[in-house]
Amino acid sequence: MSCFSYFKHKTRKLRQRSAPELNDREKSLYSGVDRSSGSTASPRGIPELYEEKAHNLRVFSYLELRHATNDFSRLFKIGEGGFGSVYKGTIKPVGGKGDPILVAIKRLNQDGLQGHKQWLAEVQFLGVVEHPNLVKLLGYCAVDGERGIQRLLVYEFMSNRSLESHLFNKAYDPLPWKRRLEIALGAAQGLAYLHEESEVQVIYRDFKCSNVLLDENFMPKLSDFGLAREGPIAGHTHVSTAVMGTFGYAAPDYIQTGHLTTKSDVWSFGVVLYEILTGRRALERNRPKPEQKLLEWVKLYPPESKKFVLLMDPRLIGQYSIYGAQELAKLADDCLHKSAKDRPTTSQVVERLKQIIQVSEDESSIEKSIIDTSDDDPLDPEENLDESTPSESWTRRMAHLAKLGERVESDSRRKFLILQSAKVP
Ligand SMILES: Nc1ncnc2c1ncn2[C@@H]1O[C@H](COP(=O)(O)OP(=O)(O)OP(=O)(O)O)[C@@H](O)[C@H]1O
Ligand SMILES: [Mg+2]
Repeated sequence: MSCFSYFKHKTRKLRQRSAPELNDREKSLYSGVDRSSGSTASPRGIPELYEEKAHNLRVFSYLELRHATNDFSRLFKIGEGGFGSVYKGTIKPVGGKGDPILVAIKRLNQDGLQGHKQWLAEVQFLGVVEHPNLVKLLGYCAVDGERGIQRLLVYEFMSNRSLESHLFNKAYDPLPWKRRLEIALGAAQGLAYLHEESEVQVIYRDFKCSNVLLDENFMPKLSDFGLAREGPIAGHTHVSTAVMGTFGYAAPDYIQTGHLTTKSDVWSFGVVLYEILTGRRALERNRPKPEQKLLEWVKLYPPESKKFVLLMDPRLIGQYSIYGAQELAKLADDCLHKSAKDRPTTSQVVERLKQIIQVSEDESSIEKSIIDTSDDDPLDPEENLDESTPSESWTRRMAHLAKLGERVESDSRRKFLILQSAKVP
């Protein structure tokens, strides 16, 4: 009880904030443009759209979120990133009636202005954008008290954690091939919405496996908009920014020049595609030197070479479409083109992923039909008679397998040609 009254006392001393408001400097934070000067060609930017939509976000009291997480108990902690710690919790529905809602609550590390800026960007961007492949922000909490500032974010809870957990944490079952492709497609659709479909163009700037969260059906949703920026205004090719992001994922042209474009996100997407193919992280310092940087290592196994299969994630235990995998690697290579303008657009990435999913499905249905046929056409009827020597039986088995292999190869070659001709330029 005394603990509870202490909290009550403390929270009374905290200055509770309502919807975060932007000062002029913060308004130009997202676009590098001073919109108040009338220099922008875009009629509405994030600040204007936020003002319109801010009412959709709930403003939580600090006390409410302390209760929701059992005072930010370590037992409720589900993750930790550069921004702060993430806790699982439950909140009351709006109006207080109905079942409690499961949420993820991110509490910012108290590290001053940079943290506040990222929190603000997250609230503003996620308060405005809306798509099935973007995580839903339910609300936030901001209090400035004697003992520092508190900034928190409340999201819908994603029960299957992140793509990172499933690709790299051996405690989870490996992701099957089809699911990997569907996750890549959903993530690309989220990016395509930000780049090409939303009212204001958004450059995400932090595309990586840990920011692709997975719901109960493994539907991917992009999270973490703390580094997001508005795209360039009409007549400009890029946004000039300080270089920020995650090492291993940021595009080299952006690192060198600070010029940010949607193609910077496309590069990061290419890195994640290789992580999906190989089950290796962009950077793994505990490996031998030539294998530490994923993008350097994969160059040893080009998609068209016989060695290509050696780069595939061993946890797939060969259960993938080889042609689909080769096409995925080629798509990754295109996203990782040195020259940003030669990288595909995000909607082109979406189209190619759809084709790869199609080709992978066709291949698995052909394999299935071959297995069914071989069931009808037993391997060797004489085998049961036990008249042949083991080596004769083995030779017949191999001949039969070779025959099956030829059929798979010719069917797959045909599909491969179809895919090539349908390829998006
Ligand atoms: N809405 C959510 N639902 C469920 N789990 C979440 C949610 N948001 C985050 N998490 C978990 O918390 C972890 C940490 O997230 P966070 O974004 O803070 O760090 P990160 O993505 O690992 O690194 P970084 O700070 O560089 O983005 C995630 O990897 C995920 O497992
Ligand atoms: Mg994150």
